[in-house]
Amino acid sequence: MRAVQHHTQIDWEFRGTNTRAMTHCFHDYPARMIPQIPSKLLELFGSSAKRLFDPYCGTGTSLVEAQLRGIDAAGTDLNPLARLIAKTKTTPVRQQILDLYLKDFSEFAFKARFEGEPSVLQLPSFPNIDFWFQPDVIRKLTYLKQYIWQIDNEDVRDFFKVAYSETVRETSLTRNAEFKLFRMTDKQIESFNPDVYGIIENKLSRNRKGMIAYLAALKQSPRKSSVSIYDFNTVEGIPNTLASSDFDLIITSPPYGDSRTTVAYGQYSRLSSQWLDLETPNLVDKKLMGGQSNGHIPKFDCPPLDKAIKKISDVDHKRSLEIASFYIDLEKSIHNVSRLIRRAGSVCYVVGNRRVKGVTLPTDEAIVSFFERNKFAHVDTFLRSIPNKRMPAKNSPTNEPGKLDTTMLNEYIVVMRKQK
Ligand SMILES: C[S@@+](CC[C@H](N)C(=O)[O-])C[C@H]1O[C@@H](n2cnc3c(N)ncnc32)[C@H](O)[C@@H]1O
Repeated sequence: MRAVQHHTQIDWEFRGTNTRAMTHCFHDYPARMIPQIPSKLLELFGSSAKRLFDPYCGTGTSLVEAQLRGIDAAGTDLNPLARLIAKTKTTPVRQQILDLYLKDFSEFAFKARFEGEPSVLQLPSFPNIDFWFQPDVIRKLTYLKQYIWQIDNEDVRDFFKVAYSETVRETSLTRNAEFKLFRMTDKQIESFNPDVYGIIENKLSRNRKGMIAYLAALKQSPRKSSVSIYDFNTVEGIPNTLASSDFDLIITSPPYGDSRTTVAYGQYSRLSSQWLDLETPNLVDKKLMGGQSNGHIPKFDCPPLDKAIKKISDVDHKRSLEIASFYIDLEKSIHNVSRLIRRAGSVCYVVGNRRVKGVTLPTDEAIVSFFERNKFAHVDTFLRSIPNKRMPAKNSPTNEPGKLDTTMLNEYIVVMRKQK
């Protein structure tokens, strides 16, 4: 029987609530979790928690929410841009300090607007830079980068880098409504004349307000907590520095599938990562879950999953191999993170069941099975419709242009508890 309970008492939609309060306003990110979800889950399953772990922390939504409740938080993500954003969202910078640097920046930007950039500038030369940026924008971004790199306070410098990253995206010739990299049409480019300094000033001002609200909320926190952000892959193992059975809780949203055919995190981050000198942005998508095909389809001993993969294999064997590799990685990751959780500790996985070739992949049920074989019991699966997540709601099931299929309109919040 399907392990889904419809919890009518809890409104998981959070329609109309502000999902960008405090440092949650800092930077867009594909399939970002809304803070109301970890907040509610902490209320339901984390009342006595002291340590939280997020194995796919992205921009750190769960980490911020844990920190605000005085819970120590640790997260890992393989995407360096996500880690920079998560670090900045969870690092308090005192308002007086921030304002000093912002004042200096506004003088710099004022002067740059009227006097232009210096004639000698060491312009970057990454591949295709001219395809994605207009010459004048390249000069301005270079000048801004020079300014930001000389900021002598690392936390403030990161605060500026996050605003800079969004500025890179908004001043590039990408169609900004989409997460994948698509270039604007020639006609759109003709009339595209972004105010680079104005855009970064707006981001900084918005993020300053977010930081002030976050500082005020931190003051209400019952205790000062620590946040650690790592770059290890839980599919491969857990570093010895993290003690086993030390965490009370996981709240996470794993990727929906491999990055190439679902949400292209590496592609989304590529231009920012190039300007920010972050490591190997092009490799990110390959390193993420399901990024490398394993060449075989094992029996997952989860009948709904095995059945769904078989159905896909009957029509497209290559595709089913790619899908299997994602679940192989997910199972390994669950096996590894299971040992981090203490007895009676809880794990909450927010997932979507995507459809491939017209077949729904029961990721929620796979997660239940994978945790069950690591001594966890199923507590509940909450159903949530997604009103505001910025995701492609439709994709092309056949990869043929024009043929669309619904991907995900619901999410499942799978809650498991480690047996005593
Ligand atoms: C749905 S997003 C998480 C979003 C996050 N909850 C937030 O609010 O920003 C999934 C994340 O998993 C990361 N990821 C994918 N495979 C990974 C792996 N094997 N190890 C660590 N992170 C991985 C991606 O880089 C992406 O940031």
